[in-house]
Amino acid sequence: MSVTLILGLQWGDEGKGKIVDLLAEDYEYIVRFNGGDNAGHTVRKGDEEFKLHLVPSGVFYPDKTKVIGNGVVVNPETLVSEIEMAESRGYPMKRLFVSSDAHIVLSWHKIMDGALEQTGKIGTTKKGIGPAYSDKASRTYSIRACDLLLPEKELKEKLLRIAAHKKKLFSALGFPDFDSESVVSGLMKSAITIRPHVADTQFILNDAIAKGKSVLLEGAQGALLDIDHGTFPYVTSSNTTSGAGCTGTGIPPQKIHSVVGIAKAYTTRVGEGPFPTELTGSLGEEIRKVGAEFGTTTGRPRRCGWLDLVVLRYTCMINGVTEIALTKLDVLSNLKEIKVAVAYEIVGKKTENFPLDLPRLAKAVPVYETLPGWEGDITKCTSLADLPKNARKYVEYVENKLGTPVKIVSVGPKREETILVNP
Ligand code: GDP
Ligand code: IMO
Ligand code: MG
Repeated sequence: MSVTLILGLQWGDEGKGKIVDLLAEDYEYIVRFNGGDNAGHTVRKGDEEFKLHLVPSGVFYPDKTKVIGNGVVVNPETLVSEIEMAESRGYPMKRLFVSSDAHIVLSWHKIMDGALEQTGKIGTTKKGIGPAYSDKASRTYSIRACDLLLPEKELKEKLLRIAAHKKKLFSALGFPDFDSESVVSGLMKSAITIRPHVADTQFILNDAIAKGKSVLLEGAQGALLDIDHGTFPYVTSSNTTSGAGCTGTGIPPQKIHSVVGIAKAYTTRVGEGPFPTELTGSLGEEIRKVGAEFGTTTGRPRRCGWLDLVVLRYTCMINGVTEIALTKLDVLSNLKEIKVAVAYEIVGKKTENFPLDLPRLAKAVPVYETLPGWEGDITKCTSLADLPKNARKYVEYVENKLGTPVKIVSVGPKREETILVNP
């Protein structure tokens, strides 16, 4: 029996989908616990690929149970289209459960997200995630998956009451209008597909654990996008850190045995906000090209930069990371030298602690150590011994600096392009 939590240690897109898909083979339950369809997780099996936004990255395993936990905000249209897409491609979704407590993202959330972006730019995915979590927190104007089980008349009345409030608010703020009836009819249509999947997942998961079943918890986004611990306000609106694995599922903390932190061998970020090791010149562009660093959800070019150990020390600490998966090492091949930030200098003062407020972070100048690069294609390497000496040294360097074992090294997007260290 084991419960393992996987999360991103940077600003998202670390390759969580690939690693969840890889590890899912040994688990019976695969569970998303936070975020919504702002996430974009890529999974590959042979030549087949899915870009998943809500359905957990266990899609290639029809017999395993997939759970969308209570901490997730669910866009019904996205969910229906993912269920239909997976089933049409031969991956039944009978064993998909959606927490009855998960809140629903509606089209007014998206309108509000877009309108708010015009007043203060965070660079959101415009999926309505912030407004949906705001409504959840403010309690009065949100509906949950359990509401989809209400008699249709009751659900309709509830929706129209919220719609009337939103209309008043939007009109006062000058936000674009929407058609209440089409929101209602859209949700009624999606509800037909979603209803059979709605369940009390807290019980499903705890019963499974009590019976000795294994559970894999899949985080969305990355630790520095966490609303409490990230680079506020340039963050998402949920907790992306390991504690959310408990609050977003109902699994108690002492049941979680290991926390796998995923770190890209370099750093990327989509959207606005500070990024001390960002490479704004041609080298950043080259990494973007080689790493195909374009947003899975929005297609936006990702900002690229060197690996930042100040970030990783902090995110390993706050998440209780027990092991690391280092991804996209292949992307760094053929560089003459590779830099890694080991500290920051802030107005002449050196620190190894990640600054937790924006003004200090904005002034942070990375202190780099330079490592020698390596040449050639490493995507076929299946053990650390297969790697060129300097690539192996890079992995050892990261492991030593973080004091946390690197158990997985990913050298390409495919499942088999992976090195399991001492499997
Ligand atoms: P996630 O949001 O953390 O699941 O990551 P994304 O799927 O948004 O972005 C990661 C991208 O890198 C995807 O296109 C993956 O197929 C790809 N990928 C994952 N691991 C590797 C790797 O080790 N090497 C390369 N070259 N690509 C990878
Ligand atoms: P995965 O799970 C990368 C970023 C957005 C923006 C900020 C707030 O694929 O790693 P939001 O729409 O959440 O209100 O946007 O968060 N962001 C992500 N960046 N990967 C993600 O998910 C992200 N989800 C949100 O770009 O900067
Ligand atoms: Mg992604």
